[in-house]
Amino acid sequence: MTELVKLNENHRDSLFLLLNNRNVSDWLLEVPYPYSLLDAYWWINKCKELEGKNKEYHYAIHYKNEHVGGIGLKILKEHHGELGYWLGEVHWGKGIMKTAISEMLTMAFGDLGLSRVSAEVFEDNIRSEKLLLKCGFEYEGNLKKLQKKGDRFINCKIFAIVI
Ligand SMILES: CC(C)(COP(=O)(O)OP(=O)(O)OC[C@H]1O[C@@H](n2cnc3c(N)ncnc32)[C@H](O)[C@@H]1OP(=O)(O)O)[C@@H](O)C(=O)NCCC(=O)NCCS
Repeated sequence: MTELVKLNENHRDSLFLLLNNRNVSDWLLEVPYPYSLLDAYWWINKCKELEGKNKEYHYAIHYKNEHVGGIGLKILKEHHGELGYWLGEVHWGKGIMKTAISEMLTMAFGDLGLSRVSAEVFEDNIRSEKLLLKCGFEYEGNLKKLQKKGDRFINCKIFAIVI
């Protein structure tokens, strides 16, 4: 039911509709609000450029054949990848992301041979924290003002799985 699909032009309209929502984008460093069709177009093209460079892996999440969200892994070091993910608000609470994360972890620790996968969660993003704990991540600590989005400094909690 939950599938990871390479992002392509057919995702443009749904990407725009799903991400043009403050309740989603407020928790994501690189997603502006409002989110436009041009932003969606830019992101799809960027993912195409990144393809084959083995530095970042980004997928659209499909649930029951519908585009519902996104997930990506950035390779920070030879052994270490960082996970990022989101779902359109109407798709929260269905267990979709737990399956998507589990697929990404299989790829990260299996095919890519990583030994550490981490995730940075903005402070107060309780849903995301609980999700990561459910997926087997451990809480490693809080880094103050780790990120800045516009004028806003953001404290982040770091979670990781190390094998
Ligand atoms: C983070 C996100 C992917 C989680 O997906 P989801 O489908 O909402 O996740 P779940 O339904 O598994 O919910 C996670 C947990 O939070 C709990 N929860 C939901 N709303 C809550 C609230 N307001 N307060 C506390 N806990 C809450 C759920 O009960 C669940 O815990 P449980 O399994 O113990 O019952 C989704 O909310 C999202 O895309 N958010 C916006 C973008 C984002 O935050 N991305 C992650 C950046 S690190």
